[in-house]
Amino acid sequence: MPASVVLGAQWGDEGKGKLVDQLAQESNWVARFQGGNNAGHTIVLGDQVLKLHQLPSGLTNPDCQLVLGAGMVIDPWVLEEELNKWKESSGESPEGKRLWISERAHVNLPFHRLYDGADVKIGTTGRGIGPTYRDKIERVGVRFCDIEHRRTDDEWLQENAGRMTSQLTAHGVSGSISASDLKESLDWVAARFGNAIKPTGLMLDLALRQGENVLLEGAQGCLLDIDHGTYPFVTSSVTSRANATHGVGIHPGHIGEVYGVVKAYTTRVGHGPFPGELFDDVGAYMGKMGHEFGTTTGRPRRCGWLDLVVLRHAQRLNGFTQLTLTKLDVLGGLDELEIVVGYDLDGQFLSEMPVCSEDMAKVKIVTEKVPGFPHIEMDEWLEMARDANENGKGYSALPDGAREYVEKVEAMLGVPISSVGVGPDREATIYKV
Ligand code: IMP
Repeated sequence: MPASVVLGAQWGDEGKGKLVDQLAQESNWVARFQGGNNAGHTIVLGDQVLKLHQLPSGLTNPDCQLVLGAGMVIDPWVLEEELNKWKESSGESPEGKRLWISERAHVNLPFHRLYDGADVKIGTTGRGIGPTYRDKIERVGVRFCDIEHRRTDDEWLQENAGRMTSQLTAHGVSGSISASDLKESLDWVAARFGNAIKPTGLMLDLALRQGENVLLEGAQGCLLDIDHGTYPFVTSSVTSRANATHGVGIHPGHIGEVYGVVKAYTTRVGHGPFPGELFDDVGAYMGKMGHEFGTTTGRPRRCGWLDLVVLRHAQRLNGFTQLTLTKLDVLGGLDELEIVVGYDLDGQFLSEMPVCSEDMAKVKIVTEKVPGFPHIEMDEWLEMARDANENGKGYSALPDGAREYVEKVEAMLGVPISSVGVGPDREATIYKV
């Protein structure tokens, strides 16, 4: 079986968790390939709300193997918290049984979080992601496979505690890291997760050769990609399809379906340009109806119209084979909707994103107006979804304005929208017929 990939097509928070959770029910493996606990996936299971940061969304399928891939930066202390919460609700401790940490993934240490906490420029999640990747690139990072060597190497411990403390001081952060702090941290990770550290690339390769179903779960979104996003207001990893296989240690030829997840409007957290951002009642309405607060930081998300310039960029990079449009219900109640079709930069029409953030911040949006549709209560959306799926009605079950919106976006992007999300519940999804 080929591997499938799920990716965010905007600035993250598109609702990937719900799709991955659905796909995970038929997957033997779900693997994350980049990022760390800057991600936040909310999964709603009846009246239970699960907030996952590092654990792959396939957690809810007890038959699914879970991998934290080589391209990730993993905070073991946050992983411990997530596992404790999962144990409380399910009774299960999957680590070392069906949860595997790549030996090549990097350890996000308390130092990295302390350092990132001083960020004011980018509006990071403050979770230590950038500093961990920076250490990886500087070739001073600690991979999970290195822990056994490092924790007994006094010279390394002294040298690195000194490096960390002087970097904190230079960055204006009070606090220091001693060699014994560092040793204690590494000893704890070794004791807690030693049995879960594995050659996960080999395991996934074998699984694929045995015909098993593998799902590669992206975090963040295309516009936060370190190479192709709105640099420097981006995350520190490659969020695209090209890194999905690389980040877990298998080759790109394994990829089959590539699901792009698109929120029916646009949101962004953190700083950086966002051309379609709305500062009016409509933006506030989207934020309120969509509960647009960051899963990881709780910060309110900035909201704006759906932006096709952004989505075309994401399509070129990722070659989505199908799209999932999420949170369409949130737009119900707005008289008129707008879709960003291009930008105006100093009087010049642009159909592609300007490369520099300064220009991206300056553009004015060019939109196409389309009719809105009424606000619908959640139980009615659920009933509509049930009727649409059980009776083969597909998108014809949607109210007129909503159906036209979906069809328009699909036609403008030239990629099939295979499902539409109309609420947070797993059942609140309408599938194309
Ligand atoms: P970092 O990934 O914590 O370094 O933050 C860099 C930028 O990416 C900031 O603008 C964050 O708000 C944003 N970011 C990181 N992770 C996510 C996510 O999962 N969803 C949305 N934005 C994110």
